[in-house]
Amino acid sequence: MSLVTTKQMLLDAQSGGYAVGAFNVENMEMVQAVIAAAEEMNSPVIMQTTPSTVKYASTDYFLANVKAAAENASVPVVMHLDHGSSFELAMKAYRSGYTSIMIDGSHGTFEENIAISKKVVEAVHPGNVPVEAELGKVGGKEDDLDGGDDNPYTDPEQAAEFVEKTGIDSLAVAIGTAHGVYKGEPKLDLERLSEIRKTVSIPLVLHGTSGVPDETVTECVKRGICKVNYATDLRIAFTEGVKKVFADNPEVIDPKKYNAAGREEVKQYVMQKMQVVGSVGKA
Ligand code: 13P
Repeated sequence: MSLVTTKQMLLDAQSGGYAVGAFNVENMEMVQAVIAAAEEMNSPVIMQTTPSTVKYASTDYFLANVKAAAENASVPVVMHLDHGSSFELAMKAYRSGYTSIMIDGSHGTFEENIAISKKVVEAVHPGNVPVEAELGKVGGKEDDLDGGDDNPYTDPEQAAEFVEKTGIDSLAVAIGTAHGVYKGEPKLDLERLSEIRKTVSIPLVLHGTSGVPDETVTECVKRGICKVNYATDLRIAFTEGVKKVFADNPEVIDPKKYNAAGREEVKQYVMQKMQVVGSVGKA
């Protein structure tokens, strides 16, 4: 199947009361793992790359990998730019052929965030590519992303104004999650999520989901989350798989051997999360 966009995929999730998992991929084996999981679960799927991932190997490389995987698959697949950090990067991903773009203007003022999000919407909507933006700030650290220590939660009234003024297609909310590994158990402001759901009609997105208990994720989906992002745990799964191979046999020199072990760990992880977000059988 050719790549699809997040537009209809997330609207279907919203009306169906489930979410679609968005998985950050770092290499070819992770792309293969995510696609294999989606096929086995008959689930729609989103693959995404952060600015530091595309700095490592370019939007073209990742798009080619995901496109090749999607074309041989029977499930709908999206290639999404995660945390687009500038208008230029958003346009680069758009021109490469990414089918969904996030512009993250959450580090600027409310007005600056509106201005850059609107600018990206106006640039990519004519090509039918949907846009995700963030209001409030998801904390934590991941790659070059640093949410800092000051992480204001999303204000429901401001969220309605933000969506109306920007014309975005989905909204990433800040309700207490953070990127990276949590120090303790994350405490999420679920009431706030329900309030945002009342003021905003477009699909809502949860970031920083690695380490959030599955029951909490399910509750967030019930309260209106339609896209759930996982990154850190996929890296951990891949690395654990590779480490096991070397622990058992330090003499291995064939990258295919240890990468295949990482790939299998990621596949198992992704299949389990597809069950958590409720996308199994929805392809
Ligand atoms: P985690 O690394 O915490 O899973 O966050 C993923 C994410 O939100 C990517 O945007």
